[in-house]
Amino acid sequence: SMAVFVTRRIPAEGLRVLSQASGCQVQLWDSEEPVPRSELLSGVAGKRGLLCLLSDRIDRQVLEAAGPSLKVISTMSVGFDHLALEEIKKRGIRVGYTPDVLTDATAELSVALLLATCRRLPEAVEQVKNGGWTTWKPLWMCGYGLSDSTVGIIGLGRIGQALARRLKPFGVKRFLYAGSRPRPEDAAEFEAEFVPLTKLAEESDFVVVTCALTPATQGMCNKDFFSRMKKTSVFINTSRGAVVNQEDLYDALAHGQIAAAGLDVTTPEPLPTDHPLLSLKNCVILPHVGSATYATRTTMAVLAANNLLAGLRGEPMPHELLL
Ligand code: NDP
Ligand code: DGY
Repeated sequence: SMAVFVTRRIPAEGLRVLSQASGCQVQLWDSEEPVPRSELLSGVAGKRGLLCLLSDRIDRQVLEAAGPSLKVISTMSVGFDHLALEEIKKRGIRVGYTPDVLTDATAELSVALLLATCRRLPEAVEQVKNGGWTTWKPLWMCGYGLSDSTVGIIGLGRIGQALARRLKPFGVKRFLYAGSRPRPEDAAEFEAEFVPLTKLAEESDFVVVTCALTPATQGMCNKDFFSRMKKTSVFINTSRGAVVNQEDLYDALAHGQIAAAGLDVTTPEPLPTDHPLLSLKNCVILPHVGSATYATRTTMAVLAANNLLAGLRGEPMPHELLL
């Protein structure tokens, strides 16, 4: 049998792939909202497959609730920091994920967030609405531009490279990147220079974080990092909130240690509406919409469904995360 639990109402095309597969019995948490923990634990019990989202923490408790029948986990995301990979590997469970198909949408959103932040778009729109726009003034609403700038990318992976490719035509002078090792083939297109994180912080006019969240990257952008950045520099994060120490970021923004920050990801998500970061004019926060185009989300759902089916049939997955 191919009994599967799907933790959310995903785009219809993805559900259709599952419902049309012969022998596949789908139990769906049929809601726009996350499945409550207790429903996740009971829903997964005795299933062979699990299709989950990045908001579902798949840890030992879930794996134990599922029991030995669970053979495949397919996440509708490229990030997999919500999966307890050691526990999953120990049980011989295969994992599918959704790289590549969301790279363009996420790189595009990163550009949008960068420009919105450095040119102060949300603040400017607000001024038009609240009467703050009195006349044209030479230094009013000024920000920082990309032309002749140095851009530092933390994590020159799929999204990091797609971002560099999009930023280059804006007249960026120099690209720096940091990571666990140099990637000369990937960097060649941008003549990007591999540097230690400290040098990236010190020399970049724009820092963009596009790495995975791992034990090594957790809290990596902290007080020391922000204190090395220039007062005129802009910080952008479209990876995972936990890569940033948010208290340290707040201090850096509030004390003018850096110019501005744009975040698509936070800890926690959603960010409480009374969070101190939301009181700052120089902080632009989006609700984790990096991959949010209709086409991309549909493609992600179909890929997640096909990964799950291939895993259940013991076939190669379109995109398997090799553990
Ligand atoms: P990739 O695996 O292609 O890239 C991840 C990069 O992280 C790699 O280049 C890797 O470089 C780097 N990295 C790993 N460890 C470190 C480290 N210690 N320091 C610096 N960099 C490091 O993944 P994608 O580009 O496809 O996606 C990246 C992340 O973006 C995802 O994991 C996800 O969390 C996030 N994401 C967010 C979205 C959103 O909606 N905001 C949408 C899609 C993805 P190296 O191996 O050389 O260290
Ligand atoms: C991911 O896939 O990891 C993103 O955060 C959402 O698309």
